[in-house]
Parts: sequence; structure tokens; C-alpha cells
Amino acid sequence: MRRIAMTAVASALTLSLAGCGVLDATGGGDEASPTRGNDIKVGLLLPEKVNSRYEKFDYPIIKAKVAALTNDKGDVVYANAEQDADKQESQLEKMIADSVDVILLDAVDSHAIAGAVQRAKDADIPVIAYDRLAEGPIDAYISFDNELVGEVQGRTLLDAMGPRVDSSDKIVMMNGSPTDPNAKQFKNGATSELSGKVTIARSYDTKDWDPKNAQANMTEAINAVGAGNIAAVYSANDAMAGGIIKALEAAGVTDLPPITGQDAELDAVQRIVSGEQFMSVYKSYPAEAEAAAEMAVARVQGRDIQFDALTRDKVVSPTQEKVPAQLVGVVALTRENIEETVIADGIYKISDICTAEYKDDCEAIGLT
Ligand code: GAL
Repeated sequence: MRRIAMTAVASALTLSLAGCGVLDATGGGDEASPTRGNDIKVGLLLPEKVNSRYEKFDYPIIKAKVAALTNDKGDVVYANAEQDADKQESQLEKMIADSVDVILLDAVDSHAIAGAVQRAKDADIPVIAYDRLAEGPIDAYISFDNELVGEVQGRTLLDAMGPRVDSSDKIVMMNGSPTDPNAKQFKNGATSELSGKVTIARSYDTKDWDPKNAQANMTEAINAVGAGNIAAVYSANDAMAGGIIKALEAAGVTDLPPITGQDAELDAVQRIVSGEQFMSVYKSYPAEAEAAAEMAVARVQGRDIQFDALTRDKVVSPTQEKVPAQLVGVVALTRENIEETVIADGIYKISDICTAEYKDDCEAIGLT
């Protein structure tokens, strides 16, 4: 709601100011304008490819939106770090050397990248932290409300455990990468819901968010706690939930405990349909990615009123107070609301989810 309202305000402003000749997207005119026109280069640095969101949604949505906002003249220069923080630093350095106009940065390691962010700033290239709050002097931050993601996961897991859930019931917590600040927020949000209500028997931070590492951690948890004693598993995202299920199945578990996730990955949505995974968190990628593109273009073109309207929230980073931000809301995705979320937003078609293997399960929940 908040986002929709803000977008409406922002475009109304654009219209009225453009009508008065105040905003000049082409940068031409008599008055010397420090702002750029439509012929701009937006650098986009994404962290990895294991989760499908980055290449399937974030990148193409941002590219299309930048094109739409610049009369097809703006370009997105894209690089993916494949989970390698050093590689990402070189990619950022290259973007500075190539003089891109603005950088959208989704950091592999939010702390390690700070020096390169400073070098971009020194080169007068604004950096907008995308999805993860990078350290160093950033101009703005756009993400989902990540504490809320964790809370939604924790709450839904308790619902799944049922009304007889007891504080002695043991759960395993599989958190995300320690170099990703979101992982800490997901964990904090979830812990705030779970603590006192269940026993967190084992908790892991999973290197690189790698499903194989999650599988190895889960195997260790099963050995320590006993497969039959694990009442539920908190998994910070869907890809790791896949690894966790493999570990449980390898230990002979046939009746899987409730397992959480995040990202609405296609195979996770299918597991939700079949009942192997209890929930995911649906984050509207168009909402985040389009707002990021709007911010980047507004910044380069010097549309400060629009930029401020897009960044009305404020967050604090370890290196910076009061970062202008936009935090987008999220919803729990369960068997009950597949149609209202990923289908309604055009993320997947029913035919993508309800393949031959899932046909019966889809019919059972009315997804046809
Ligand atoms: C998080 C992101 C999630 C998920 C995860 C693994 O920072 O918010 O959506 O993709 O990283 O890369």
C-alpha cells in the first residue's frame, strides 16, 4: 500500500513538474543543468546464481524498467559475482573505470565491499544498495523489510506446528550467509517469534547460502538431535530447504516436519503444493526491482524530489546513519494463497507449477 501510494505521489510530481518545464529529461535547454539525460549507464552488481531470482527476475526487471524510463536509451551494465566477494570487488572497480553513471549493488559481502563503495563515491558515481545493505557511503537502500521476512517465517512455522506446540519441542535453524546482512535480520525476526515457544536445538549460519552446506549442516543436526526428535526446521530460504529435505530423506524420514523457506522458487512452490515444504516468503520482485530502477534513473537525472519520494524510509548501516531507504512488504506463501501471489503477479503460470508430477496435488488444492 505504502509503495503504491508513494509511486503515485512520485509520478504525479513528475507530471506536474514536467508540465512546468522544471524537469527536463533530455538535459537540454538554456539553463545549464548538471543532470544527465536519457543516455545513461546503470551498473548492476548481483551476488549469485544459485537462487533463480537474480537472473530470472531482478536483472531482467531492472533492465526493462531502465529502458522504459529512458525512452530505450538507458543501458544496464550487468555483472554477477557468483558468490565471490573478490570477484564482485573487481566488477565494481571495472564499472568505476568504465564510468557508469550509477551503481546498484547487491553485495556478496556487505562489509568487505565498503572500500570499493568509497572509491565509487570518490569518482562521483552514486551507489544504491540493492536488497542487501552494503557498507560504505551509499546514496540509498532498497530492499524488502527483512526483519518482517524472519517474523513471517517464524510465525508461520509455529502455526504449522499446531496448537499443541510446546517449548520443549526441538527445531533446527538454518540461517543464511554470515556475510549477508539480510541473513542476520531474517534470523533476528524469526528468533523473536520462536524463542520461548520452542527449543532451538541446533542453529547454523550457512556459508554462501549454499544448499550443499545446508544439507551437510542438517545431516549433522540429525546425528546430534535424532531425526525423530526434530519437530520442525527453520530454513532461511528455499534453496536451502531443498538441501535440508535431502538430508532428512537420506536419514530415512518419510513424514517430513514443517519446513520454512523464502524466495518463492519454482521447485519450492511445487514442494508446497505437494506438502513437502510448509511455506515460503513471497517477495514481489517487480516491486523491489522497478523501484530500484526508478531510484537509479532519478539520481542520475538529478530528479531529487522524485528520489526523495522513493526513499522515505530511513535505515542505519554500520558505517552510515540515516540511509534514505525504501522497504517493501512481504507475505507468507502457503498452499492457501499461491493463486493470489505468484500467479496473480505473473511470476509463474499454473502450468509451470502443475506439471505432470504435481497435477493431482494441484487439483487437490484447487489450482487448475
Ligand atoms: C538474500 C536475499 C534472498 C535470497 C538470499 C540468497 O539476501 O534477500 O532473497 O536470495 O539472499 O541469495
